[in-house]
Amino acid sequence: MTSLSDLARDRTTLDEHEILHLQRLARVWGLLADLSGADLLLLARAVAPPGRFVVLAHVRPTTATTAYTSDPIGRSFERAHRPTVAAAFDEGRMADGQVRLAATGDAKVSVRALPVRCAGKVVAVLSRDAAGEVEAGSELEGVYRRLFDRFAVMISAGEYPFPRDEHDQYKAPRVGDGLVILDEERRVDYASPNAISAFHRLGIHRHVVGRRFEELGFDEQVVRAAYSSSLPVTAEVERGSDTTVVMRCIPLLVEGTPTGAMIGFRDISELRRRDRMLLSKDATIREIHHRVKNNLQTISSLLRIQSRRMESSEAKDALEQSVRRIGSMALVHETLAQDPTDGDGTGDEVRFLDVVRPIVRLVEEGLSSPEKPIHFRVTGDVGVVSSEVAMPLSVVITELLQNAVDHAFGRGKRSGTVQVDLVSVATGVRVVVTDDGVGLPADFDIAGEVGLGLTIVQTFVVNEMGGSIAMRRGDGSGDRPGTVVELEVPLAGASRAPTVTRI
Ligand SMILES: Nc1ncnc2c1ncn2[C@@H]1O[C@H](COP(=O)(O)OP(=O)(O)OP(=O)(O)O)[C@@H](O)[C@H]1O
Ligand SMILES: [Mg+2]
Repeated sequence: MTSLSDLARDRTTLDEHEILHLQRLARVWGLLADLSGADLLLLARAVAPPGRFVVLAHVRPTTATTAYTSDPIGRSFERAHRPTVAAAFDEGRMADGQVRLAATGDAKVSVRALPVRCAGKVVAVLSRDAAGEVEAGSELEGVYRRLFDRFAVMISAGEYPFPRDEHDQYKAPRVGDGLVILDEERRVDYASPNAISAFHRLGIHRHVVGRRFEELGFDEQVVRAAYSSSLPVTAEVERGSDTTVVMRCIPLLVEGTPTGAMIGFRDISELRRRDRMLLSKDATIREIHHRVKNNLQTISSLLRIQSRRMESSEAKDALEQSVRRIGSMALVHETLAQDPTDGDGTGDEVRFLDVVRPIVRLVEEGLSSPEKPIHFRVTGDVGVVSSEVAMPLSVVITELLQNAVDHAFGRGKRSGTVQVDLVSVATGVRVVVTDDGVGLPADFDIAGEVGLGLTIVQTFVVNEMGGSIAMRRGDGSGDRPGTVVELEVPLAGASRAPTVTRI
């Protein structure tokens, strides 16, 4: 669907300020459609074809049948076909009339067109197109129609929408929410059945009509603020721990002065309850990560004890390596168990640097000969990644660092540098591990026979995460060409398969 702003820029001569005014109106006018029991159309003068009006926006009522079964947005009308709209635009006043819509079998639609003013100028027309009866049947409808008329006056005077974004965390009110109308003296003039229910939930069972909020035991701050600022004011009202109602007080202005106000009540208790549940779920997830980390550390020490009892050095080695691999997985869980200061707070994301740094430290501490100084360096940053990516990637980086330690510097004789680069790319994360060691063997082929280390690396990067890996000789000279391992893994498309499989 084409947006209001795109349509306005393409098809009209409205400027950005005027477009913003219309956008604000279209954000809150669902309520007006409900109040009027009619479709609302926003029309502006089209550049081409000249003399026509183009429909920039449309909203259907939830309280009545629509006059438009198909989407009218983007359609344009001859002036002759919409004389009421043309009159409202040209003369800057409200106009009533009728129109026949071919789309609804030539049904007669009654139209009330009002000019939409912005900074004193008529920039568009709001057309209220009612398929059925406009006349109010019930008392409720009568209240709604009169309220619509008050908004209509404000729209024509350029006083509505308010010159401030009402687009906040709450959805704009609709009539399904409770509705209260206050008079000039801030006394309740009318309260809809849903508003009465909201009062009940807040513990107010008295007759509300004719009373001020403070007399009802309600904080009147919100109402006073709306009247004195001539701007809408929103607040949450709580009762106990399980009832939360959001109230939005919209002053009804005539020439800038409040002559009353409309208050929309919405019960958001369910929403708040879910928020609280998510919060505790988040704490639970972190607790689980903490326990997983502890369990992994227990497994590590069991393997270490076992390795000490081994006679064969090969078996000892194998167990030691498992200890190391488990250690880097425990690190990710440890990071996930910490407070979620980053990410979306779901307890499932980590700042990757917070994982990589300790991994490097782990490998550093595991160096067999301290007299062979190997310097490690981490550069770059890829921000926050999900545990689904962090978990396998941390194991992969551990393997690559271990390989540099094991193979690049020739059996404990030389020193060197190993660098880990973290780079964000369009599709995900790139990790480059570079050393300045002896380089890969001449016949090296990653696709051929490799050890367990690179098998794990390939399984994780290619099979689990759908990424790619390349290993090549570095750019160093002589007997220290070095090795560069470059891998890229997508962030969005990380597979949901369990991370330890198919080795
Ligand atoms: N940074 C490096 N510098 C030089 N050679 C390397 C480097 N990384 C890997 N290699 C070569 O690739 C081979 C395969 O590595 P891989 O990690 O798969 O097995 P491994 O290290 O020999 O054994 P494991 O990791 O199972 O203990 C190594 O034996 C080594 O010859
Ligand atoms: Mg290895």
